[in-house]
Amino acid sequence: MDLQNLSMSPKPSLICIFFIIFTSLVNYILSLDPKFQACVPYTCGDGPNINYPFWILHEQEPFCGNPNFTIICKDKNPVLTIANDDYIIKDIFYSNQSFLVANAMVYEDTCPAPLHNVSLGQTPFNFSLYNGDFSIFYNCGSKPYYPVYELDCASNSTHHSFAVFHKEALELHNYSLKSCRSLVDVPVDVGVNFTSLLLMNYTEVLKMGFSLNWSAQDCSSCERSSGRCGFENNEFVCFCHDRPHLKTCNDGAGACLVMVLIILGVIFLIHRRRLKKKYDPSILLSRSISYDPSGTTDQERESSYFGVHLFTYNELEEATNNFDSAKELGDGGFGTVYYGILRDGRQVAVKRLYEHNCKRVEQFMNEVEILTRLRHPNLVSLYGCTSRTSRELLLVYEYIPNGTVADHLHGDLAKPGALPFPTRMKIAVETATALAYLHASDIIHRDVKTNNILLDNNFLVKVADFGLSRLFPTDVTHVSTAPQGTPGYVDPEYHECYQLTEKSDVFSFGVVLIELISSMPAVDISRHRHEINLSNMAMNKIQNHTLHELVDTSLGFESDCTVKNMITDVAELAFQCLQYVKEMRPSMAEVLEALKDIQHRDYVKDKEEINISADDVVLLKSDPIPLSPDSALNWNISTSTTSNGSR
Ligand SMILES: *[C@@H]1O[C@H](CO)[C@@H](O)[C@H](O)[C@H]1NC(C)=O
Ligand SMILES: *[C@@H]1O[C@H](CO)[C@@H](O)[C@H](O)[C@H]1NC(C)=O
Ligand SMILES: *[C@@H]1O[C@H](CO)[C@@H](O)[C@H](O)[C@H]1NC(C)=O
Ligand SMILES: *[C@@H]1O[C@H](CO)[C@@H](O)[C@H](O)[C@H]1NC(C)=O
Ligand SMILES: *[C@@H]1O[C@H](CO)[C@@H](O)[C@H](O)[C@H]1NC(C)=O
Ligand SMILES: *[C@@H]1O[C@H](CO)[C@@H](O)[C@H](O)[C@H]1NC(C)=O
Repeated sequence: MDLQNLSMSPKPSLICIFFIIFTSLVNYILSLDPKFQACVPYTCGDGPNINYPFWILHEQEPFCGNPNFTIICKDKNPVLTIANDDYIIKDIFYSNQSFLVANAMVYEDTCPAPLHNVSLGQTPFNFSLYNGDFSIFYNCGSKPYYPVYELDCASNSTHHSFAVFHKEALELHNYSLKSCRSLVDVPVDVGVNFTSLLLMNYTEVLKMGFSLNWSAQDCSSCERSSGRCGFENNEFVCFCHDRPHLKTCNDGAGACLVMVLIILGVIFLIHRRRLKKKYDPSILLSRSISYDPSGTTDQERESSYFGVHLFTYNELEEATNNFDSAKELGDGGFGTVYYGILRDGRQVAVKRLYEHNCKRVEQFMNEVEILTRLRHPNLVSLYGCTSRTSRELLLVYEYIPNGTVADHLHGDLAKPGALPFPTRMKIAVETATALAYLHASDIIHRDVKTNNILLDNNFLVKVADFGLSRLFPTDVTHVSTAPQGTPGYVDPEYHECYQLTEKSDVFSFGVVLIELISSMPAVDISRHRHEINLSNMAMNKIQNHTLHELVDTSLGFESDCTVKNMITDVAELAFQCLQYVKEMRPSMAEVLEALKDIQHRDYVKDKEEINISADDVVLLKSDPIPLSPDSALNWNISTSTTSNGSR
């Protein structure tokens, strides 16, 4: 509207305005600093914007960046050389001075096998906290049973190469790393959802890259004053459109005015021409106004504490519809669990802890950090929690949609024949895998029960509620609020020394095994006095050769010979787990191995001949398993010790 007034003003003033605009324009163009022009941001192919302190060799002038940040464009990729290794820069975050790189080898070799550790030595770079410890082991004497990323391309029949997150787990598992010729640590950015990392293969994991942060003089004040940062005489300089300046372009306002004048002038000229042609100028005007020179807007910052995502209380209150009791998923040992949907659409299970003791909060974050780092396909992922300043401690877990094993065995979701024996076997193996992983990470679950074994839509096991006891360590004054296990599953030795060990988890898992073959709940007061506890009932039946009274008839125990043999073996394993004296129980690792053996054994063939293949070390070391329950008492599943292996 103002423009229309302008266009109606008398001619002499028009000419005057035009003259001012023209001279400013000429002035601006003539006075442009060549260094300012040279340091325009650049990209290699589709890569990120390369800007100070980075600069591109051959494409830009050395004064545009710090010599430690020299990038070379190779095949449209920005490549940074650190300690003689090439890394492709995948992304640069100027706002928090960090960037994501991946070893260039990963993109070039069919079998990427970095042979030395990433050395940051004298560089201005540092590893950011978002990286997880990923280690590659080359040429080891044996394969660990522990789940690892296989490196088939670098292995042969005698020398195995593999990679694993948290190598400590292997050592805790008594896997001797001494048998490996070399070990290379590779950080991997685990800022993404860790579960997706577990679904990847080795190369894909390496392609995730890792993040580094840098220290260099901050250039943001220069950029805010519409200058461009550069580097001269070992110093950061700010190039302005008309002259170099040390810190900022103070005349930024002046440059802005010139720009505004130019834009206005151009609009004005076009406007006049269009007016003559009777065009409506408003379209152009609105376009010019919507142009935002600052580019980006401040986004809501994601907060996190040492890699643990911190949710705000309000966010979770909103996600759970104000902790709507209709959305309650269950009542766990340490708190109530609610279903929720985060703003980003993720479905979550939010655990509201009963305990609000301030002292606990101190430990809380460290413990949550340990728990978030525990990643396994058979463990429910912990996404994060509320911050220590929040008014309540809430834990946010991945939501698992398909109920618990208890629901499917004897709860709301139970249907005759719905869980066939092979599925139950798979559940047993996956649960044992998760527990063995926890034990290898030095964590006792303390509350193993079918209510804590969740199933996803593909009946993949997700063990929940692990490690919460770490948040509330055994403490005499808190015995009542920190439950140690659930009736029916608790290690009988616990009542003698009030201490839970890994073998207590083994006992509870024994109860789970019996539930899987019997479909009966762990405790049922409608049963006979001596059989209220399923573990007692099972021990009696197995010892009295009446296993058939325990087994769920719908599984085919009487009709299918293979199923009968498998169930008998599982019952015998459970019998070992349920031993009163904990020293007599196998370790979780041994239980897992025995279960896998039962799952994969060819029972039909075994009858004719005990065929030992190279992989079946377990079979080789343990005696052929007798089918009669009589053997239960002395059947030894131990595979590592020879103490009583030779009968
Ligand atoms: C830096 O910011 C980016 C994007 O905002 C984020 O993805 C990244 O995790 C941050 N890195 C660090 C080390 O804070
Ligand atoms: C890499 O670092 C680890 C310790 O972090 C060390 O044990 C290993 O030998 C190193 N590997 C090489 C190839 O230097
Ligand atoms: C396996 O690889 C190792 C190391 O690369 C080599 O020393 C060994 O001879 C190979 N063995 C076989 C059977 O190929
Ligand atoms: C590892 O070996 C130690 C000592 O021999 C033993 O106490 C521990 O139970 C073993 N751990 C596993 C997971 O087998
Ligand atoms: C890993 O997965 C990618 C794509 O999913 C595939 O192209 C590649 O061949 C796989 N690599 C190996 C070593 O299996
Ligand atoms: C880079 O990250 C490390 C680890 O988080 C931190 O100690 C260091 O201060 C960071 N450096 C910069 C310049 O942000």
